[in-house]
Amino acid sequence: MPVKTAAHPGKAGLGNRGSHHGTLVLAESGRLSSLEDTLASLGFSLIRPHKKFNPAIAVPPLIVIADSGGWKTGGEQTARAASAGKLTVRSILIEDDETGTVEMPGLTHILSAEFTRRQLLVAVREAHRSAVLEAELDELRQLQETGHRELEKLIEIGISLSSERNIDRLLDKILLEACNVTIADGGSIYIIDKNEQGERVLHFSNTISTSLNVDFKAFAIPINPASIAGYVAATGESLALDDCYKIPARYQFSINKSFDESNNYRTKSMLAVAMRNQKEEITGVIQLINRKPSLDMVLTSPAFIEENVISFDQRVCALIEALASQAAVALENYRLYRDIENLFEGFVQASVTAIESRDPTTCGHSERVATLTVGIAEMVNRITTGKLREVRFDENQLKEIRYAGLLHDFGKVGVREHVLLKAKKLYPDHLKLVRRRFDIARQIYRKETNRSKVEFLLAQGREEYLRQFKHIDSEMRRRLETLDRQLSMIVSANEPTVLDKDDFSILEDIARIVVSDPDETSFPLLSSEEYQILSIPRGSLTPDERLEIESHVTHTFNFLTKIPWTGELQDIPEIAYGHHEKLDGSGYPRGIDSDNISLQTRMMTISDIYDALTATDRPYKPAVPTEKALDILGHEVNEGKIDPELFRVFVEAKVFNLVKGKHS
Ligand SMILES: [Fe+2]
Ligand SMILES: [Fe+2]
Repeated sequence: MPVKTAAHPGKAGLGNRGSHHGTLVLAESGRLSSLEDTLASLGFSLIRPHKKFNPAIAVPPLIVIADSGGWKTGGEQTARAASAGKLTVRSILIEDDETGTVEMPGLTHILSAEFTRRQLLVAVREAHRSAVLEAELDELRQLQETGHRELEKLIEIGISLSSERNIDRLLDKILLEACNVTIADGGSIYIIDKNEQGERVLHFSNTISTSLNVDFKAFAIPINPASIAGYVAATGESLALDDCYKIPARYQFSINKSFDESNNYRTKSMLAVAMRNQKEEITGVIQLINRKPSLDMVLTSPAFIEENVISFDQRVCALIEALASQAAVALENYRLYRDIENLFEGFVQASVTAIESRDPTTCGHSERVATLTVGIAEMVNRITTGKLREVRFDENQLKEIRYAGLLHDFGKVGVREHVLLKAKKLYPDHLKLVRRRFDIARQIYRKETNRSKVEFLLAQGREEYLRQFKHIDSEMRRRLETLDRQLSMIVSANEPTVLDKDDFSILEDIARIVVSDPDETSFPLLSSEEYQILSIPRGSLTPDERLEIESHVTHTFNFLTKIPWTGELQDIPEIAYGHHEKLDGSGYPRGIDSDNISLQTRMMTISDIYDALTATDRPYKPAVPTEKALDILGHEVNEGKIDPELFRVFVEAKVFNLVKGKHS
């Protein structure tokens, strides 16, 4: 214990009897014997030096009064033992013939051989004052060091709390640090929030314990003096209870002993402090129980607790108040961060709705691509062998992948709707026009036949007419049937299926047919533009339309780069930008190759192709079963277009099952 008794040694008069604590070592042959009573009356314990001096039972400080002989025969050993035992030592030397050869630690005074009683007392008093000052200085130094360490620890805790983005982990961390700082056996945290009725209540949010296996069940309590946490939340007052079974009568709350009884526990000391945010508003309560002498001590029984648990003192209370403020600020930051995230999540969902409302046939595609891509990434995180064994995606990267997946096709809002929704080669109105032309051709043929019949009748007479009539009609029927065949050929060529060689030549023949009406102008059955469109070998899009559809990727990128992403999400535009690129450079829009396509993008490409193939909701394309879709993807892998390792993960971990049954 630091020496605090001689608070003002300068004012202590020589006659201050009994006012000094300490041990006086009298290492002198004879003269001090007569003054022993005087010295003892000052309050010192007096000893004569001997070899087995035990510093542990000596009262500090130690003051040695010695002449050279006494110093050599015992004073020196006593002083050495005292300083080894961390006792402050002060020395007073009585001059004799050998004074010059003696070196004493903490020498404060040299008395002449003929010292007076007064001179001796002055020397002792000064030695004592000097020792007391040193002890006080030590104490201050220690306090400063402890304060420094605690401050550093608090700063460290503050930093660690402010970086936590998971509420459960944040609450756990707050409690753990609070228990560490106070050496508490356990603790609980209550957060103020509104209940369903809109009232502010304290939610029991988390709890930890070293000695108990606590089953955590959430509940809420009112903010009022009927409970300890309620009292602290209502008043803002910190509460330190030495014994929860003996709560002072001025408080309304009491402790529910049933918990202790059913858990063979004893809640003894308790500390509850309010958590205040920057605006000094109370946002929660930290409640700690059973302060221990050491952190790793396990409280095994109520009796053990009775014996070992100590009270939460003022210093600890001040520390935990500081920590509670930091926790409140961290919690506030977390809430702000969560609000921003929710806001952003809402914005992303609204964007997805916007994309899918323009193209309802791809409904759910963005969500499924996000799910599959995150699914592959999570599987990659578990791989311990092969090329991907060192690849790990952290929480932020998974979030980045998810957003990129949700928004990868957002650029479709920049593609004209009729192109986006184009299911067949000719737009419906365009096909109507072709059909109309065939109708006109039929009418012309009929008109022509009728005219021929009249002309024949007039020229050849009725008998001849009746003989040839059937022939004229069958010729007309033949022409009409040909028209029907040609039209049905056009209708079938209009489908986005693959055209074979014969179909091309039939189309070519049709495109050469010109229908002429003798009364009016002539027209081709199929315009050269229509012939070009119907000759699209695969799919429904013309080269220009295909380019327009492909431009959705660039629109996506341009849109996403306009969003001021936070650092951890900054790769979203780039990940989405590459979702139609292929490792061999055959993709679009940039035709970049494997050196420039990130793992995240490669995973998204697999997910995107898989979902496009298996989607059941595209009217122009029948859904492909999973096996077939995997075959098609496998083919792309063999052609060097898709990442083989990631595809293997996709297949082996059956990542595709994540969206099973999720096609609308
Ligand atoms: Fe796309
Ligand atoms: Fe897509």
